[in-house]
Amino acid sequence: MAHASSTLVLPELPEVPRHVAVIMDGNGRWATKRFLPRVAGHVKGVEAVRGIVRACVERKIGYLTLFAFSSENWRRPAEEVSLLMRLFVTALGREVNKMHANGICLKVVGDLARFDPKLQEMIAEAERKTAGNTVLVVTICANYGGRWDIMQATGKMVAANPGLTHFTEDLLAPHLSMAYAPEPDLFIRTGGEERVSNFLLWQLAYAELYFTDTFWPDFDAVALDLAIASYHQRERRFGRTSAQIEEQKKAS
Ligand code: IPE
Ligand code: IPE
Ligand code: MG
Repeated sequence: MAHASSTLVLPELPEVPRHVAVIMDGNGRWATKRFLPRVAGHVKGVEAVRGIVRACVERKIGYLTLFAFSSENWRRPAEEVSLLMRLFVTALGREVNKMHANGICLKVVGDLARFDPKLQEMIAEAERKTAGNTVLVVTICANYGGRWDIMQATGKMVAANPGLTHFTEDLLAPHLSMAYAPEPDLFIRTGGEERVSNFLLWQLAYAELYFTDTFWPDFDAVALDLAIASYHQRERRFGRTSAQIEEQKKAS
């Protein structure tokens, strides 16, 4: 079944955020602060991923989405890009079986055609292996860009509806790369910057945004709980007034 769109229907409000989406930023600065090469920050960042995946399982969060490499990150020095790719391959090789044993479903979304064919095959194999798992869906956004996603979905929508000239949101949504997941309830960006950097542009329409100065390698279960506590203090109105929300609470 397709997930409800926050702009077309009022979403049900989950007690625990169903979907947490994270921009894992600050690896380089974490390392530089310690007089280490940037790569050390990325290595430490992979460890932080492991901890947060575990914390999400414990907290019964359904979907965790991690921005690992943006379509603009190719602009980085070639050496750093190739190192990030190698790290990705190593982490996949090392973690997939453990994830599978823990009932985690792994998805990788983005323009994967630009990756080494061997890496593409590893990704496909990991997705196949874990496809039936339901404890937690972990999505890695790799060579992902929100604009790319909207454009690729638009292309597929047009192809699927030959002759149609008027399009609606619900015609586009099934073609977005994360159509299998509900829209994020909570967006977290670590590392102190307060921007979206071309992450899930469409899907973040009504996400609650949380920014922290903590660098990604230091982001642990305690830091996640701070973000969730902040989420619990928000009033999600989806366009309505506070008074309407109060009325609805009284009625239920
Ligand atoms: C995030 O950390 C990881 C990736 C973008 C791959 P950065 O590498 O952007 O770290 P900073 O922002 O330079 O500290
Ligand atoms: C966003 O971080 C992308 C990822 C975390 C993968 P960046 O470090 O690339 O973002 P900007 O360049 O500071 O906006
Ligand atoms: Mg950064």
